[in-house]
Amino acid sequence: MPALNWPGKELPTVDAADLTIEAIVFPHGQGYPDTSPENRLILGDNLAVMTALLPRYQNKIDLIYVDPPFFTNRKYPARVGRGEDSRKPDDWQLADGYLDHWPDLDSYLQFLYERLEVMYRLLAPTGTLYLHLDWHADAYARILLDELFGPENLINQIAWVYHGPSPIRRAFNRKHDTILSYAKGKDYTFNVDDVREPYNPNTVKTFKSSPKAGFGKIPDLNRGKVPEDWWYFPVVARLHSERTGYPTQKPGALLERILLASSNPGDLVADFFCGSGTTLQAAARHGRRFLGVDTTWRAVHTTRCRLSRLEVPFTLERDDKASIPLASAGTGIQVVVSGQKIILESELDLDFWEVDPNWDGKLFRSAAQACRPVRNGELPRELKIEAGKEICARVVTVTGEVSQHPLK
Ligand SMILES: C[S@@+](CC[C@H](N)C(=O)[O-])C[C@H]1O[C@@H](n2cnc3c(N)ncnc32)[C@H](O)[C@@H]1O
Repeated sequence: MPALNWPGKELPTVDAADLTIEAIVFPHGQGYPDTSPENRLILGDNLAVMTALLPRYQNKIDLIYVDPPFFTNRKYPARVGRGEDSRKPDDWQLADGYLDHWPDLDSYLQFLYERLEVMYRLLAPTGTLYLHLDWHADAYARILLDELFGPENLINQIAWVYHGPSPIRRAFNRKHDTILSYAKGKDYTFNVDDVREPYNPNTVKTFKSSPKAGFGKIPDLNRGKVPEDWWYFPVVARLHSERTGYPTQKPGALLERILLASSNPGDLVADFFCGSGTTLQAAARHGRRFLGVDTTWRAVHTTRCRLSRLEVPFTLERDDKASIPLASAGTGIQVVVSGQKIILESELDLDFWEVDPNWDGKLFRSAAQACRPVRNGELPRELKIEAGKEICARVVTVTGEVSQHPLK
């Protein structure tokens, strides 16, 4: 079988990440304080983190979707504050998003290869891996995945097609991504009836007027059709109600189709390049357990905000090598208790805050959270909560710095 080689191709021995729990998040107090959630959101380099997860999750993850950097050699800033709203460009603020810079193709392939190999080990025997890339590197990735999974285990090469403006004048407008799906064997989960879609109205009309139009094959028009391997979903454009401001965020509908086809309720779904958390949000909405990893705090914080709007508890963890930016002292942030309310007072532009009403001084159990609304409006400054003996609030500024405010 042909294989892809490059100087320095290897599967190195990797030091496992040392994971620390930063907080247990109980969105809207769901499950507070005693549930130990299985859902995990982890800040760190995914190679070290996946290596740390191997003893517990080898052959256990039912669905892995990953959307890594595409080898574009670009920098992707995030829009923060009110930056999501394209009607107010003067309000845009940019912050670091993530980098897709590589010294050369060899180093990119090595990065992908060593991570895909650990993902293979984590995947359950009935599981599926979806790898999302585009024309920059999809051809190489297909050969790498053939090597790791065996070419006979390619399920689909999906084209996600979309449209949008582009300055291109010397080629056709590049408006599709490639999603490769592979299984470990023939016995993989594929819930075809959960992803059927309505037939095109013209097809329905044709078959209603002439049942022989299909040369003897009469489709079940009510049941719907199996989607093709090319999918149109609009990109998360600036005015889209899903937009978090995190760069290259993928549409929720795309992840929902993947999740419904290739996992069952209760299954474990992982995204090791989780960005704004689209996969994790879909998993939480559809009763799947989830694991998410990203190397940037901006991504992990964005995901945490999105998940806080749902009702599914999760732990927020960190590889000890990864740091969370702290606000400098003297931020002027005040948190005060007034009856059943906790009130946040600050002149700063803030993104998020949360409260543990019974802080033990060690593990932060977040029982109430407030996030800046995705499109319009201000961060709510009051949280209703039954105050315990020791209250602690954590606050995140629009630029991502965190401060902690214990109060008696
Ligand atoms: C294309 S974005 C993912 C977007 C995501 N699918 C979404 O819907 O928001 C790629 C992500 O990979 C992350 N990333 C890059 N290298 C990583 C690494 N070594 N470990 C973990 N995450 C990494 C980046 O920080 C970035 O958030």
